[in-house]
Amino acid sequence: MKIKINKNFLNLEENYLFSDINKRVNAYKEKNPNADIIRLGIGDVTLPLPKIIVDAMKKASDEMLSKDTFRGYPPEYGYDFIKEAIKDYYNRNNVSLDIESIFVSDGAKSDLGNIVDILGNNDIYIPNPVYPVYLDSNLMSGRRIHFIEGNEANNFLPMPDGLNNKPKVIYLCSPNNPTGATYNFNELAKWLEYAYKTGSLIIYDAAYEAFIVDSSPRSIYQIPNAKYVAIEVSSLSKMAGFTGVRCGYTIIPLELKANDVSLNKLWKRRQATKFNGVSYPVQRAAEAALSIEGVKACKENLDKYKENARLLSDLFDRKHIWYSGGKNSPYIWLKCPNNMKSFEFFDYLLDKANIVGTPGVGFGKFGEGYFRLTSFNTKENTIKAVERLEKLL
Ligand code: MLT
Repeated sequence: MKIKINKNFLNLEENYLFSDINKRVNAYKEKNPNADIIRLGIGDVTLPLPKIIVDAMKKASDEMLSKDTFRGYPPEYGYDFIKEAIKDYYNRNNVSLDIESIFVSDGAKSDLGNIVDILGNNDIYIPNPVYPVYLDSNLMSGRRIHFIEGNEANNFLPMPDGLNNKPKVIYLCSPNNPTGATYNFNELAKWLEYAYKTGSLIIYDAAYEAFIVDSSPRSIYQIPNAKYVAIEVSSLSKMAGFTGVRCGYTIIPLELKANDVSLNKLWKRRQATKFNGVSYPVQRAAEAALSIEGVKACKENLDKYKENARLLSDLFDRKHIWYSGGKNSPYIWLKCPNNMKSFEFFDYLLDKANIVGTPGVGFGKFGEGYFRLTSFNTKENTIKAVERLEKLL
């Protein structure tokens, strides 16, 4: 063929981080078929969905059986009932949303990847280490990327100090994937102040907000005037166990304008052309998950994951190994013992303890020498992993 390809793709790592990890684990399994591998790598949930959610999904599926209640294409931006449920969910955290600002999607990853469509050729500022989708999607679009260094000295919560005053697009993730570090109210207010001052946009990833147990903001809109400078992307994947069900949402406030053009309007136009909405049974399931009763049921699952996080954190306390996270987050971010590099420690753990984690460097160069473990496995497997680590480290 003689067609031209998008050469920006050649600037990406050959594999997406979690596909790469999977490949390595499968290769190890082939060589060691009897290994009892415990996966604490990708942040995938293991507990079944609460009954209130499955009942709502079943009822919605039954509606598809009858001529009177069958539904075809859903609205591109989400049914009103789920947008109302999201609005209520935010209201319970003291955030008031305009219904028109809510866009329902099949998950945060899609929206975080697709949002670049409505933005021009801006300078992109990405904390490092962080969820790899921000970097990859901007590389695919050929954007100029700058990293904002997270390290132990700033508790993996980089601030705008030292950045220039040019307008830019800034990604923030809090609680952070992978470090679990969480911005407090004042820190987020500083980021917002910087964004106003410089005419910048903040893309705020709140996918782990449901894990917050302290007074840190669960939404950037808890900080006054954030609606003029921030888009928020969130998901039911971790909050309600929807990694397989798929549902998330993005908030683009009506107040958000770049040179007088409404970003909300641009995203509406983008979604209407490129997205056909989320299936009706899934939207009903999400509505149930976001209800007061649903949140209560989901919290029971989150508490179990938090207990796993506690088991892992206690181990690293006993071993005097530096770590962050595990409190407002399902992730424990630890310093690799004996100055091992991230992938060295990955191979060591896989080989000596049959435990899979995620090498910190996979989240960016400033993650080198660190490692991420998740608390999303079963309690039984987490205990087993702790026992193995207790012996090994
Ligand atoms: C992770 O392990 O970082 C997440 O599961 C990835 C994701 O949410 O897409």
